[in-house]
Amino acid sequence: MEFSCKAFKVGKCEGEKVVDGETIPLVLQPSEPNKNDLESLLLGLEKNKEWFEQMIIKNSAVLLRGFDVQKAEDFNEIVETFGWEDIRYVGPAPRTHIYKRIWTANEGPLSEFIYYHHEMVLIKEYPKKVILFCEVPPPEGGQTPFVPSFRVTERMLEEFPEAVKEMEEKGLQYTFTAPSKNQTTSMRGRGWEDTFGTSDRAEAERRAKALGMDMEWLPNGGVKTILGPRALTKVFDGRKGRRMWFNTIVGMHGKELSSASMADGSEIPEEVAKRCEEIIEEESIQFKWEKGDVLFLDNLALLHGRRPSLPPRRVLVTTCK
Ligand SMILES: [Fe+2]
Repeated sequence: MEFSCKAFKVGKCEGEKVVDGETIPLVLQPSEPNKNDLESLLLGLEKNKEWFEQMIIKNSAVLLRGFDVQKAEDFNEIVETFGWEDIRYVGPAPRTHIYKRIWTANEGPLSEFIYYHHEMVLIKEYPKKVILFCEVPPPEGGQTPFVPSFRVTERMLEEFPEAVKEMEEKGLQYTFTAPSKNQTTSMRGRGWEDTFGTSDRAEAERRAKALGMDMEWLPNGGVKTILGPRALTKVFDGRKGRRMWFNTIVGMHGKELSSASMADGSEIPEEVAKRCEEIIEEESIQFKWEKGDVLFLDNLALLHGRRPSLPPRRVLVTTCK
């Protein structure tokens, strides 16, 4: 594999880390200062599609920086260059459709921390790539931190070999409670009617089943979804045999709207969930968003989240198969 490419110059960003020999994220800038226009970028991507995709897998994250990317339409063109298939979002985040494949990342309050996750980790088909575009960089906070998932597994195995083995063997079960209508007062306020694209309960149940979820209707019109059994870790093709921490224990364990336990009902020890949270934070990588940044994340390799932010902040997203 060729590690350099004439269309781009490798840059640096504050906060990047070297993990297992690879710099995360790989920063790609215009090859020459006057080649920062959208047209040159699209041409550079078009000519180096395969190389670019290999870099996403090799470095887990690629940050395009210094190009003149202004708006959702530009971002959409960048994404469409690659020909990756779109994947419909299923999950708790209330989102707004902006343009073609482009959505807002989360309409929930900016003051809340969106906890680390692999996108759509509990759904049968999850995206391989999560791509974000910064239209309005936040004045303070609002970073999109990400975490090499295999490092979490490695460190959990070092500290809790037995608990990891037990959770792996038994599998995990999650519950999540959703309201009927969208509530943007919460970052997990997406209603089931929007999630499943129907207000008909029987139809929603059918669609949920297809995604691997069971439903329990609540007196207030909301629904409790039950998901399981699910794996603790996963190994994906082309990712060096790494065991990814492909679960959402910390995000869902012991929360007001959600729970996580082992699939046979046994509890996940408090200490295990708590230490895992610390380890994830310790392994996190983040940079400060700049206007026009486009970030490609390998969703099979990285967990990502969003730090609390001062307004205004506008980061758009798309997910691909
Ligand atoms: Fe996400």
